[in-house]
Order: sequence, then structure tokens, then C-alpha cells
Amino acid sequence: MGIKNIIIGLCLGIYTFCGCSNEPLQPIRSGEIWPDNNGEHINAHGGGVMYHDGTYYWFGENKCDTTSSAMVGVMCYSSRNLTDWKNEGVALSVVDNDSSDIARGCILERPKVIYNAKTGKFVMWFHLELKGKGYAAARAGVAVSDTPAGPYRFIRSGRVNAGKLPVNMDGQAVAVLDTLNAKNYEKWWTPEWTDAVNKGLIVKRDLDGGQMSRDMTLYVDEDGKAYHIYSSEENLTLQIAELSDDYLHTGNYVRVAPAGHNEAPAIFKKDGTYWMITSGCTGWAPNEARMFSSSSIFGPWSQHPNPCVGPKSELTFGGQSTYILKVEGKKDAFIFMADIWRPEHPSDARYIWLPVQFKEGIPYVEWMDNWTLDFFQ
Ligand code: DGJ
Repeated sequence: MGIKNIIIGLCLGIYTFCGCSNEPLQPIRSGEIWPDNNGEHINAHGGGVMYHDGTYYWFGENKCDTTSSAMVGVMCYSSRNLTDWKNEGVALSVVDNDSSDIARGCILERPKVIYNAKTGKFVMWFHLELKGKGYAAARAGVAVSDTPAGPYRFIRSGRVNAGKLPVNMDGQAVAVLDTLNAKNYEKWWTPEWTDAVNKGLIVKRDLDGGQMSRDMTLYVDEDGKAYHIYSSEENLTLQIAELSDDYLHTGNYVRVAPAGHNEAPAIFKKDGTYWMITSGCTGWAPNEARMFSSSSIFGPWSQHPNPCVGPKSELTFGGQSTYILKVEGKKDAFIFMADIWRPEHPSDARYIWLPVQFKEGIPYVEWMDNWTLDFFQ
């Protein structure tokens, strides 16, 4: 083989490796069946996407046909172009041992994975409910792997930040907290109860045992610091917790939108502003999305109107937020990811992926039957 052929071969290799082929971009069709490399509908619900070394890894809940409980675990799919997805198998498997926290039949939801550049480990956090206990445990679970697709090794699960008060509760607020007596607020949903929740009634209740942690996401900031964002306090208040260099909780956390009843947090940052999209709490049924912004991850956060616009925007187009994916190599390119749940046939739940657009700097999301990634410049 001549030197010319070797150079051509090398160039072609690099070209293919970079995913710069001339193949036409494939459309993203929200709500339809999304086949993987085996022709099977992608099974990665409530998920998130991690980008590592030129490849996107999509992690999500494996849903079976008849129950929303975890019968398999967390799935991983990989792609270099965000439209062709290879099934990488089960990244974190549930266990055939009822004394395990992640026993087959537990509830394992909304897994997210981040890469820790300091330790070289891939870290997965997820919402865990113990088998047979409904949604009472409200735990966060953590697992690690040396490779992006796994398998991940389960470390532990539990409530978070036990013994710690939120850092955005000042001395005066702590003094008010001291006066709250749970016995006076046994009846839920009264104005007095809402006011007490706002002031930290449930933070106080869970202070010793740790704060509840259900719907969740992870966010790694530009400085490598990571945060765990989760629905806490009986799903009434979001909390944002700082993670340590090992991506475990430091004990520093803030409350966001107390008594605001937010689930399904998804976050991104643009031009120094953090934007967070959430849902309300209506089980598997869709509701209207909410949006918050802040110039600091620890707040204060302000609320904006529903970011979704157009038909069915009042129901998030039938879906519920799960993640906001940054498209690598494109400026200000973010994809809003949501799930259209099918609780009567959970494995048939569908995905919504729509570009985040901006008007006067404010994000909005509009339904498109199909679109391609060249939507982003
Ligand atoms: C809404 C949450 O966002 C989902 O992850 C799941 O926990 C359902 N509620 C269960 O009803």
C-alpha cells in the first residue's frame, strides 16, 4: 500500500470516528417508537444523557410491560450522533435478594450519571424506593463504575443530608422553625399547613433521619462541582445539594420553591444563568411545566411562566421533563427531554425531545412533529 493510500485511509478513519459522515441527519420524532440498533424501542425512561469522549450515553429506567417497578434495572444506550442508539445493556442491575436495597421489584427511578474527572469514576445517582414499601422510603441511591456504560456497582441508598439545616435558612428562619410544632399541622393542605411547610415543617421532621429524595437530576458545573437536585419534603419542595469531590453529599443544600410541589427537575446553564424546568405532581399524568432561573445554583431562584408554548403546552405536550441535554460542539444547543408515561403498559412509554429555543434570552419549548439536529447552528 502506497503512502498516499495510507494517508487517505487514515483521513477516512478519522472522518468516520468523528461522526462527520455525509449521511443525512435523521429526524427526531417525539412520541413515536424509537428503535435501537436491534430494532427494539429504546427502554430508558426518566433518564438522562452523559457525554464522554465523543459518545453520548443515555441512561434510564428499564420498564417492563406490566409494572412500573424495577424488574431489570438501569439501561444504557450509546450514540455518537444522538439518533442511532446502540443498546449497551443493563448498566445497574436489580438483585435477586429481597434484603438488598435494590431488590428486583423495588422502585428505581430517574437515574443520572456524571463523570468525575478527579477520581476517573462514573457516578450514578437515582431515586430508590424499597421493595414493597410504596413511595415511603424516598431515598437516593448511588452506584459507580470505571467505564461509562457500566456495569455499575451499587454502593448504598438513604435519605440525604441528615442532621443538616438548609444553608439558605438564616438565623431568623431557624428560630421560626424551632417554634413549629407538628401536632398543630396534622391536617394537610390547609393554608396554615402550607405556611408551615413553607417555613420548614418537613425539613424539621426529617432533620435527624435525613431529607427525602425522590425525582432527581444531577448537574456538573463548569468548575467540576456537582449538584444533586431532588424533590424533597413529601414532593412539596425542591432541594439542591452540593456534592463533594467524590460526588457524595457534603451536607450543604438549599430549598427551592418551598411548598411549590415540583417534580421532574431538569437543568441547564446559559450565559451564566441556570434554568430549571420542572413539572407539577400528578403521578404519571402530564401537567403544566414550570420554569425557574437563578444566577447562582444555590439561588435565589425566581419562577417564570410555563416554558412550553403552542398546542398542548398546558400539558407539556403529554410528557414530563426528565433532562436537558447539551449538544456538544454547537453553541447554545440544548434538548428538552421528557417522558410520555404509559403506566398501563410502561415499556411503551414514549420520549419527547425538543430543542430549547430562546426569545429575548428566555428559554421556551415548542412542539415539532419532527426536526433534525441542524436546527442548531
Ligand atoms: C411522577 C414522577 O415524576 C415519576 O418519576 C414517578 O415517580 C411517578 N410520579 C409515580 O407516580
